[in-house]
Amino acid sequence: MNLEGKVAIVTGSTRGIGNAIAKLYLKSGAKVAICGSKEENAITAMEKIKEELKIENDQIMPIGVNMKDTQSIQIMVKKVIEKWQRIDILVNNAGITSNKSLLDSTDEDFYEMFDINVFGTLKTTREVVKYMKETGGSIINTSSMVGINGGKNQVAYASSKFAINGITKSLAKELGQYNIRVNAVAPGVVETDMMKDTVTEEMKQMLIHMTPLAKMAEPKDLAGAYLYLASNESCFTTGTIIQVDGGLVM
Ligand SMILES: NC(=O)c1ccc[n+]([C@@H]2O[C@H](COP(=O)([O-])OP(=O)(O)OC[C@H]3O[C@@H](n4cnc5c(N)ncnc54)[C@H](OP(=O)(O)O)[C@@H]3O)[C@@H](O)[C@H]2O)c1
Repeated sequence: MNLEGKVAIVTGSTRGIGNAIAKLYLKSGAKVAICGSKEENAITAMEKIKEELKIENDQIMPIGVNMKDTQSIQIMVKKVIEKWQRIDILVNNAGITSNKSLLDSTDEDFYEMFDINVFGTLKTTREVVKYMKETGGSIINTSSMVGINGGKNQVAYASSKFAINGITKSLAKELGQYNIRVNAVAPGVVETDMMKDTVTEEMKQMLIHMTPLAKMAEPKDLAGAYLYLASNESCFTTGTIIQVDGGLVM
């Protein structure tokens, strides 16, 4: 599968799952905007990738974007259009999580979760579709296994990921007319900073025990699903949520 000639925005690609997706896209020939919450994070991530993959400046660009801020999102999209004149692939991957019971959650916790995970995805997609509707393209949202099964003490996070699934299916129906496909990937537990902040060693061992493939995923184990959904090989696939969780949820 190759992405030669395609331009991709991968939000949340300074680290974790997004970083692995960006690297696989670059290796597959795409031009990629590396996005993080701060410009310096994006520049640091870009420099590391350039060093590792021997990538030239015309194939990669760093962007700092605040997913809570509409104007910042508009600027991100404008920068990509100014540099490469098109957007073929959008990966809405930036996100936060939290482990809080309903009664411990404040209004601010709910708003923060939805501002970044849900409204950030909606706003970014709206900005990108203004351009993508001229060429067609692929939008891939990062959901989660808790967006399928729910999660104890994760009501805010889980409901944000159920919303992502709703966005995926609704926009697949709405944007098919422009040859824009909209799909999601639902990871299980993946070894990233996010996971380290929320999963204890005891929980980790329990999850590995419950997973048929008997391990915890590394970010690169997720990237292949995103490559398939971005490539022309998935040209008749839209509105799906692909679980990549080692069989944990079934
Ligand atoms: N790890 C898991 O087990 C797991 C499981 C299921 C689903 N997921 C989902 O996968 C996605 C990536 O998770 P991850 O584990 O790779 O996370 P991570 O390692 O914590 O990385 C989060 C990424 O999102 C960016 N980000 C966070 N808040 C942002 C904001 N307000 N504006 C712009 N960018 C922001 C971060 O940028 P900076 O580096 O600049 O902070 C970083 O690039 C998320 O949507 C998450 O919900 C993860």
